[in-house]
Parts: sequence; C-alpha cells; structure tokens
Amino acid sequence: MQTRMKHFGVSMQQHPDALAVLTEFLDVVHKKEPITRIIEIGSGYGGLTTLFGIWALENGADVFSIDCYPPKHRKVMEALGVKVTVDDFWKITRSIHSLIESEGRSLVICDGGNKPHEVIELHRSLKPTDLILAHDYAVTRDCKFSEWPHREITDKDIKGLPLMPERLRPGPQGVMERMRRVAWGVWRRT
Ligand SMILES: C[S@@+](CC[C@H](N)C(=O)[O-])C[C@H]1O[C@@H](n2cnc3c(N)ncnc32)[C@H](O)[C@@H]1O
Repeated sequence: MQTRMKHFGVSMQQHPDALAVLTEFLDVVHKKEPITRIIEIGSGYGGLTTLFGIWALENGADVFSIDCYPPKHRKVMEALGVKVTVDDFWKITRSIHSLIESEGRSLVICDGGNKPHEVIELHRSLKPTDLILAHDYAVTRDCKFSEWPHREITDKDIKGLPLMPERLRPGPQGVMERMRRVAWGVWRRT
C-alpha cells in the first residue's frame, strides 16, 4: 500500500482515503458541538495539517501544529493561519496542556514519535466534550479491520485510562468505522 500521499501538491503520511474520511469526521463532530481548536502533535511534512487548516478556516477553528523538525510545507500551513511550533513535544507539554484546557472544544491529534505516550500524557487535560485521536491505530496488533500497515497504538496500550471510544451517538456510526479503516482511533474521557 502507498503510505505517502500528495494532495493539492502537499505530502502526507496517510491512507489514500484519509483525507475524505477525516473531512467527514470533522464535519460530523463539529455539527454535534463546534470544534474550537485542533492541536496536532507531529506535523510531518505538514500535508495533513493543511487539511486541518483549510477545514478550520472554513469553520472558524484554530489549528496548532507541533514537530521537532520544520515542516516542509510550513509556508502553506502558515498561509492558512496554522500556528506552527518547531520544538520537542516533551519539552512543551505544559503549554499544550494549557491549550487543551482553554475554553471551547479541543481536538487533540497524536501523530508524533510515540502515540501511546502522547495519549497517556495529553488525555489528562481533556474536558468532557474534547476528543483525542491517534494515528496508526488498530484494535489489536493482528487486527484485520485496518487496511493500514503501521500499528503503533492498540487498545492494550491505553487500557486502564479513563477513555472510551467516541461513538457519535446519536449520529452516523459509519464514519467511525471508516476512521478505524484508515487507522485513526478516537476517544473521549469517561
Ligand atoms: C508520522 S510523522 C507525522 C505525519 C503527519 N501527521 C502526516 O499525516 O503526514 C511523525 C512526526 O512526529 C515528529 N516527532 C517525533 N518525535 C517528536 C517529538 N518528541 N516532538 C515533536 N515531534 C516529534 C517527527 O519529526 C515526524 O515528523
């Protein structure tokens, strides 16, 4: 499977269907309760961030993206109003916790160097309507459901945390299945 995609001329390390599925997911989640900010750990090239940036510009949200290396597509990200931070995530966790805790609904995207540790660290600041997402997710390491070759976070890694899978009830369930198929896990606080 091709794991690096180019959309609108920018690269992202996502499933070929991820752009459409994530857009649908953001729309459905936002309709239930408006998203105030998206906080992304692991910009990579910045391609996925541009999707968040376009979506946020259209829907009145803010995007913050953090990576320890300058993203290749930084110019595009900043043109979309994304606040780009180049730093080691583990050195700035305090400011990220404050950002999550600020007023309004936060979506926390864990796609950095160690997804389980990022979820374990950041879930503590989630407010009741906030969501935390992790990429390279599969229910188990040998799960047949995900079409994505990388499995860096499974249910076992976050067992015991006060988190439950987001179900979007009442609402369309299909999008959550599609999120799993493109290797994204989504949780809220119990
Ligand atoms: C899988 S890539 C991100 C892919 C990107 N989200 C996408 O969809 O195209 C993981 C990124 O995490 C970054 N990273 C790893 N450890 C980090 C750390 N301690 N602090 C900040 N960024 C880190 C890497 O530099 C890399 O760009």
